[in-house]
Amino acid sequence: MKPLIVANWKMNPQTLKEAKLLFSRVKKSGGIICPPFIYLSVLKANGAQDVFWEKSGAFTGEISPLMLKNLGVKYVIIGHSERRKYQRETNEMIAGKLEAVLKAGLKPILCVDKVSQIPKSTKGLIIAYEPLFAIGTGKACSPARASKMRIAINKAAGRVPVLYGGSVNSQNAATYIKEAGFQGLLVGGASLKPKEFIDIIKNVCYR
Ligand code: PGA
Repeated sequence: MKPLIVANWKMNPQTLKEAKLLFSRVKKSGGIICPPFIYLSVLKANGAQDVFWEKSGAFTGEISPLMLKNLGVKYVIIGHSERRKYQRETNEMIAGKLEAVLKAGLKPILCVDKVSQIPKSTKGLIIAYEPLFAIGTGKACSPARASKMRIAINKAAGRVPVLYGGSVNSQNAATYIKEAGFQGLLVGGASLKPKEFIDIIKNVCYR
């Protein structure tokens, strides 16, 4: 299977013009691009950074799985550590989101930093192992340590695809796929630099 490389733009960039420019440079890379919600319909990107657990109704400010599905989105990041931290998302809220996303026919990418965050049912899930110390810090997890977690995740979750995320760049990307056995990568900061993001994909897919 070709590695799954996911770009998480987080709350960037600040203008639609910049978003269009960035997207135009990475859209043919084969990666999954997750821009902020407000740019999704214009860019026709294939990934989203979050979703709500209900289909429709009085939920001010929220975005439903059906809205994403009807726009052509295919993948949704769920339970990112920044949402667990700043929006106080709990495993229970995350379980609701997973269920709603699967029901809508979207593919959830569940972010975890410990095995205890993996739900009982893992059918249809993609899991991203994102150690907190490595997110946005430039201190990536060693492939040996990440590999141990991947094995533990597969033990708990079965044969689901597992991605690594946390300070991935074009220099370290391939080690997670080739040495640590991950099926893909979740890329934050480096996904905002088109050349770096494309180099990540080249290094993991074609070398
Ligand atoms: P980072 O973010 O690549 O900037 O460390 C990864 C993530 O939070 O998904």
